[in-house]
Amino acid sequence: MAGLAVKAHELIKWFGEGEAKTYAVRGVSFEADFGEMFYIEGPSGSGKTTLLSLISGILRPNSGSVLVDDKDIWSMTSDQLADFRLNKVGFVFQDFHLFPRLTTAENVAIPLILKRRDWNESMNSAMEYLEIVGIKDRANLPPVKLSGGEQQRVAIARAIASSPDILIFDEPTASLDGDTGRRIVEFVKHNVLNEMRCIIIVTHDSRIFEYADRIMKMEDGRILGIEKGGPHEE
Ligand SMILES: Nc1ncnc2c1ncn2[C@@H]1O[C@H](COP(=O)(O)OP(=O)(O)O)[C@@H](O)[C@H]1O
Ligand SMILES: [Mg+2]
Repeated sequence: MAGLAVKAHELIKWFGEGEAKTYAVRGVSFEADFGEMFYIEGPSGSGKTTLLSLISGILRPNSGSVLVDDKDIWSMTSDQLADFRLNKVGFVFQDFHLFPRLTTAENVAIPLILKRRDWNESMNSAMEYLEIVGIKDRANLPPVKLSGGEQQRVAIARAIASSPDILIFDEPTASLDGDTGRRIVEFVKHNVLNEMRCIIIVTHDSRIFEYADRIMKMEDGRILGIEKGGPHEE
């Protein structure tokens, strides 16, 4: 391992007030390292998506802290936080969040254009990332013309286009058939993971557990334990 990527300390997040107050995350601490595939597993409603939002700078915790690459993200200024979200983390959302009116290549170029890169240069980089994920031939099509697995690859290409240190996936295989799901995760493990990156995957798909280095189990906003992943041993 090449060091600590994410350190979450006593994170608490609730929604609503008074009678309607519900705790989504109830005191979660964990550490994930560069060079590892770190899974978070648990039933629906256990707080997984909320936890991902807290560690990726999308949602502010009610208490607790998040260090990414040794920086306390929730004590950053809003400019620093925006910079962090653009450059440090790549987030692949459960339902992909592709822009329907843009082509596949334009979808991938978006973060680069946000980084104030020139349009042509951004589109050229986008094409390189589409080649990496194996769908360069789909570059000029809108997302609606692509299969679920192809849309997932576009989302991955977009997330890795800005070379983030931390790549976060929320239920990446939920809308894919088993084989496509395994191929995507295997692809990420072999082509995207390196000692400078940490990949965090939320899933309850046991078919992809074999690619995990560690699996953290969550239930009802709490951590039940962390175990080693890898191929099944009977
Ligand atoms: N924006 C929100 N407003 C109110 N409640 C929410 C919100 N987001 C999540 N919750 C609640 O927090 C709990 C955890 O949700 P979530 O993090 O989405 O779980 P998971 O991803 O494990 O299914 C659930 O009870 C959910 O209803
Ligand atoms: Mg969720």
